[in-house]
Amino acid sequence: MTSIEFKKHAYEFVDWMANYMDTVEDYPVKSKTQPKDIYNSIPTEMPELGESMDTIFQDFKDKIVPGITHWQSPNFFAYFQANTSPPSILAEMLMATLGIQGMKWDTSPASTELEERMMEWLGNKMGIPKNWTGVIQDTASTATLASIITAREKKTKFNINDNGYDGTKYRIYCSTQTHSSVEKGAKIAGIGKHNVIKIEVDNELAMRANMLEKAITNDIKNGFTPLCIVNAIGSTGTLAFDPLDEISTIAKQYGVWLHVDAAYAGSALLLPEYHHLISGIEHADSFVFNPHKWLFVNFDCSVYFVKDKNALVNTFAILPEYLKTKTDGTVSNHCDWGIPLGRRFRSLKLWFVMRSYGLEGLQNKLRLHIDLTKWLEQQIIASSDFELVVPRHMNMLCFKYIPKDYTDSKENLNSLNEVLLHTLNDSGKLYVTHTKVNGVYTIRMSIGQTNVTKVHIKNAWNLILETARNLQH
Ligand SMILES: Cc1ncc(COP(=O)(O)O)c(C=O)c1O
Repeated sequence: MTSIEFKKHAYEFVDWMANYMDTVEDYPVKSKTQPKDIYNSIPTEMPELGESMDTIFQDFKDKIVPGITHWQSPNFFAYFQANTSPPSILAEMLMATLGIQGMKWDTSPASTELEERMMEWLGNKMGIPKNWTGVIQDTASTATLASIITAREKKTKFNINDNGYDGTKYRIYCSTQTHSSVEKGAKIAGIGKHNVIKIEVDNELAMRANMLEKAITNDIKNGFTPLCIVNAIGSTGTLAFDPLDEISTIAKQYGVWLHVDAAYAGSALLLPEYHHLISGIEHADSFVFNPHKWLFVNFDCSVYFVKDKNALVNTFAILPEYLKTKTDGTVSNHCDWGIPLGRRFRSLKLWFVMRSYGLEGLQNKLRLHIDLTKWLEQQIIASSDFELVVPRHMNMLCFKYIPKDYTDSKENLNSLNEVLLHTLNDSGKLYVTHTKVNGVYTIRMSIGQTNVTKVHIKNAWNLILETARNLQH
């Protein structure tokens, strides 16, 4: 493809992209495609000869777009958002064009140094202790795995890295609500998922610190070695906040590594009024949050802060001859700060987003999302046939439908709510997901999409009311 042809297609794509952003609400939010529809529409073999970009682009529109769930629709309330924003997309275009690998300082000094500065920008405003250091990871799952492995190495004076396990049984603690990446990390790190101890939660689904302490002391008595505690600041199901101040005191007392998983809610630490959520962070060891969720930066971009940078680097550093450079020892080589060698230039997206919105612009969006959630919370409380299953946490609502004078079984109420959820999602007008809270089927609505406004929330609420009241029960 010549540069003239490239320009022609790129302009055409940009027109499509801008139009998509303007019309994303017109698509069914959740794809209506059936299993294998897309697969069967793609030829069984690679083409022998190159095809024109016009043909390829047409197929993208005809075959791929119908199989897309529109995460960028302001009517997307499912899971946690994976937001983009125009400045982030523009940065992605440049990143794709530069196509660098930022593994070592030498392989693109700008990537390493912009990343260092962006970590400071974020850490300073989020209340991360000044002596901590940040680095971008691809996902929170990877950051949590890195944290578990670093905890393991620090505990064993880097012995397991060299000699493997010696039979000591390690334990990891998190609440029953903590994200599955902790269990996955324990499996991969060789700790074993049965050594992940799930601590009971209170009525707001936050970890009970006294039960954590009990589990640790029991384990010590029984010959286990407590290795790591994972404290959720915003659990996945209901956005519950574990009490970091109490848990960090326990971690300090028993010498256990403390990792804070704030994958989604961490973005709200840009709001000073939420800094209390991480009170006690100075006694923790690591912290992760995902700008690729609620900070308008395209997937992937996960920010990981550590107190002991040397422990992280000593855990992961490896220096084969072909990676040696003249600057080794004098600069940061980010390939030593995590699992993969190759690294994308993700800090460029953060830089574009933080400069384009400014702190105030980001704060306005986050506060708007929380205010919209508060508005909907009031509607649910005031309604005669909907109930919050747990209190609102930040921008997350967990609720159920319970028809007036309902007398049928709990199981049937669960089924009714499940039908409600599927009917809503099948309408294509919005997308919500669910969780179960103490056996109760719970509709879960996270309100944080880049372009969501009051109109979307009002429409969503009207649709939920109307759909529920038309259900047969
Ligand atoms: C609290 C929490 N931690 C970790 C993760 C994993 O995130 P990632 O997809 O970045 O690995 C999620 C995903 O939603 C999450 O909600």
